[in-house]
Amino acid sequence: MTDEKEKIKTDLFRQAMRRFAATVSIISTVSNDGTPHGMAATAVTSLSFDPLSLLVAVNKSASMFEPLKSSGFFCVNVLHSNQRNQCDIFSRKEIRDQRFKVGNWEKNENGIPYLTDAQASIFCEVDQNINAGSHSAFIGLVLNVITDELIDPLIYLDGGFLNNTEAKNTSQHILNKETKKYKSTTQNLEGIDWLW
Ligand SMILES: Cc1cc2nc3c(=O)[nH]c(=O)nc-3n(C[C@H](O)[C@H](O)[C@H](O)COP(=O)(O)O)c2cc1C
Repeated sequence: MTDEKEKIKTDLFRQAMRRFAATVSIISTVSNDGTPHGMAATAVTSLSFDPLSLLVAVNKSASMFEPLKSSGFFCVNVLHSNQRNQCDIFSRKEIRDQRFKVGNWEKNENGIPYLTDAQASIFCEVDQNINAGSHSAFIGLVLNVITDELIDPLIYLDGGFLNNTEAKNTSQHILNKETKKYKSTTQNLEGIDWLW
């Protein structure tokens, strides 16, 4: 394929990807000397029910790439809509020194940092690390999960963030404490088993 055709394909791919509304998470891990590492990510997806697993795509140039490979553990911290500052801190290299200094970060028994006021924290052990060019896909076996009551994601779409009102109009799910089922203001999700 010519360079020009390749460029057009790349641009169209980018344009297509801008149409995915994606919840922003922070992937966190720890290096062997105990230093925490992390980055903002939207390339996070559920993978399997049995065993419970998920997949994250990490750029090989990211500072957390090598620590993640060697520790073999990570946490997916699913951000709330009001945690945009965490996304900034964990995606802008020039303020990388603020990572883990802002917000309520604690460590689990494996020393993996997690954000206690995230929407959810999913603790994983790396099962496979698949080379995919610029990125690697890490498949994580789920070890433990913590969830907050409110479902209120920080959503990235078309190169920006959906503001709270837009996001809330799109979808709002609140955990009903008595039934332990999620009530949706937009649709009835009961009976759908592909519900994470
Ligand atoms: C909304 C958003 C989503 C992102 N998703 C990913 C992702 O899924 N995978 C990835 O490797 N980088 C992703 N990035 C980029 C990294 O967060 C960014 O390059 C970060 O600075 C890498 O950490 P480092 O500066 O310590 O190398 C995303 C950035 C933003 C703002």
